[in-house]
Amino acid sequence: MTLMTWTAAQFATKITETDGEHQQIFNMVNDLHGSVGGDRSAIGAKLDALIGFVAKHFKTEEDLMKSHGYPEFASHKAAHDALVTTCLDLQKKFKAGEAEITADTTKFVKDWLYGHIPSIDKNYGPFLNAKGVS
Ligand code: FE2
Ligand code: FE2
Repeated sequence: MTLMTWTAAQFATKITETDGEHQQIFNMVNDLHGSVGGDRSAIGAKLDALIGFVAKHFKTEEDLMKSHGYPEFASHKAAHDALVTTCLDLQKKFKAGEAEITADTTKFVKDWLYGHIPSIDKNYGPFLNAKGVS
């Protein structure tokens, strides 16, 4: 089910690796969204995979920004850390049976990404491009 659609106009950072990871994240969120209301163990597996991949993606960006001396590194990492904290809390509550993954959950993730990628991620594109990263 398509909740999120990646387009270059809206989301391209001009960094091949992170653009590819963003598209993968969109696919995984769409997959999780499509499973809402269905089998709980399947939802849990998709949630774990999504959170694991997002953590890997954040590390990709943070390693790139850090190794090239990106001036906005600290505030960008703080935004990542805040989402990770929220996700780990949700994952823990889901596993304990204290929370469910609903369309509100996937909308929250969508809204976060639709805010973060165009306004925060896109800023590292020109900086890294100028450092020879593409
Ligand atoms: Fe990103
Ligand atoms: Fe980011």
